[in-house]
Amino acid sequence: MGPLTTAVAVVAMAVFFISGFGEGRSSDNAQPAVTSATTGPCLLPAPDMRRRHKDLLFEERTKAVRQGDRNPEASLSRCITCHAVFDEAAQPIAYDDERHFCRACHLQVAVAPDCFTCHRSTPVMPVTPIQTGGTQ
Ligand code: HEC
Ligand code: HEC
Ligand code: HEC
Repeated sequence: MGPLTTAVAVVAMAVFFISGFGEGRSSDNAQPAVTSATTGPCLLPAPDMRRRHKDLLFEERTKAVRQGDRNPEASLSRCITCHAVFDEAAQPIAYDDERHFCRACHLQVAVAPDCFTCHRSTPVMPVTPIQTGGTQ
């Protein structure tokens, strides 16, 4: 990257964090509603999850796929179950809907992970507290 590109990128990141990110989280637009998580706790505190969820997912994928070592607590389907967002008809929304938990932040930072071409983006219904709180 040249210095100009770097400067543009830095400004873009700053604008993102100051405006979209902070504001969106407290308003009622297409931002992910953290309250959509059925029950907690998450794997790590929210600020750490925001920063590290991608690493956690990639580590879990590598361990599961390469070494056959699965941690049900960290499975993608468990993220999806806890973070399910429901529509007006009480049906879980899929990743093609901008309100999906895994989608709204990504729209803003323009990352588009392809995970849901293979993995389900909706939980297996019905979602119960036992499913979300325990292992599955
Ligand atoms: C081409 C299809 C495909 C894509 C795309 C894909 N996966 Fe997977 N993934 C698999 C398969 C197959 C397995 C192994 C079978 C299983 O465990 O369900 C797996 C396993 C996993 C696991 C461990 C098991 C589990 O359910 O947690 C994680 C975590 C995971 N993938 C995360 C991701 C993430 C994150 C992305 C996007 C960046 C992604 N995958 C994209 C096919 C895919
Ligand atoms: C047992 C339910 C549960 C599971 C499983 C779970 N989460 Fe969470 N997650 C939560 C809750 C509750 C919060 C909000 C915590 C808080 O605000 O302190 C949260 C917060 C987050 C955040 C921060 C959101 C924000 O706006 O700050 C991200 C990102 C996240 N989770 C991703 C994931 C991923 C990825 C997985 C799977 C590897 C996962 N979560 C699994 C319940 C869960
Ligand atoms: C609080 C906002 C937020 C939420 C909610 C969120 N993400 Fe992310 N995600 C990001 C940001 C920001 C990045 C890019 C920066 C980075 O790499 O950490 C990212 C990057 C990723 C990447 C890497 C993409 C790439 O191309 O390298 C994956 C995979 C991912 N997220 C999966 C998920 C999944 C699955 C969920 C839902 C369970 C989710 N994210 C929810 C903010 C979020």
